[in-house]
Amino acid sequence: MSMEIKKEIYDFFAKFVYDKTGIFYPEKDYYRLDSRITTLMGHFQCETPDELFNLYVTKRNKDMEVVLIDLCTNNETYFFRDNKPFDALTKTIIPQKVAQNGYVNLWSAASSTGQEVLSIVMGLLENNPGFDLSKVKITATDISQRALKKANSFTYSSLDVQRGLPAMLLVKYFDQLPDGQWQFKSEFSKHLRYETLNLLTDNFKPNFYDVICCRNVLIYQNKENKQMIMQKLFDSIRSDGFLLMGSGESLIGTDITLTQSSVDGAMFFVKENQTWKKAA
Ligand SMILES: C[S@@+](CC[C@H](N)C(=O)[O-])C[C@H]1O[C@@H](n2cnc3c(N)ncnc32)[C@H](O)[C@@H]1O
Repeated sequence: MSMEIKKEIYDFFAKFVYDKTGIFYPEKDYYRLDSRITTLMGHFQCETPDELFNLYVTKRNKDMEVVLIDLCTNNETYFFRDNKPFDALTKTIIPQKVAQNGYVNLWSAASSTGQEVLSIVMGLLENNPGFDLSKVKITATDISQRALKKANSFTYSSLDVQRGLPAMLLVKYFDQLPDGQWQFKSEFSKHLRYETLNLLTDNFKPNFYDVICCRNVLIYQNKENKQMIMQKLFDSIRSDGFLLMGSGESLIGTDITLTQSSVDGAMFFVKENQTWKKAA
């Protein structure tokens, strides 16, 4: 199997991925496409990169798009990632909003395989005994079909459940399946469903969410796309709503200003009345 990859092939796949996802491979990083191209060759039974390229150019179909997006997205996630934001959300922000408005609309905007959403559900139940989960309307979305399939199965490997999930919560909220995997109990998952949404190309519901978690995804976007997605997120958050980003993420590179607020030691951005606005 020859692995000589011509520049026009790298250019083609880099542009394809950028157009579909916003994930950008500059020429200096083209080597990062090598293993993806090799995997695609195996998947579509092509002997050479040229054969794969011809297939994509001449016979492109939805499956080819889905497989390539799955290969190029990084679905890294784990339970209670960064810890503090989950305490703030489930002890303070969500209970307060439920008390004020009767319900909360929450969106996990790059939910990957679901650990973020399940951490919120478990946190709510643990920190607020008897909490009525139907008061939190959760939207959970991702672009990766592979991630969504796993999230919608609510099933995790023994390695997954060792990452961030206390043993006490594992036995309380999961059933062990005959194959050794662990499934989130249906009594807690029955209101949850994960759906496809592309942050780059899809529209967001305007003025709708009280809390948006958009964590560890905008780091893969360039300045223009980050600005565009942040603007759509801004429009989607209700007044006094909260945006949670990843611990290493900031608004640098966008011209959107918003109020930073520390809640229980975790950093959030708040859309206060008239205070979230574009810089002059
Ligand atoms: C590193 S994971 C983060 C998961 C979780 N939010 C966390 O912080 O643990 C990034 C996720 O963003 C998704 N993603 C990448 N580009 C996207 C896009 N344009 N639209 C929607 N999701 C995207 C990937 O499929 C992946 O599941």
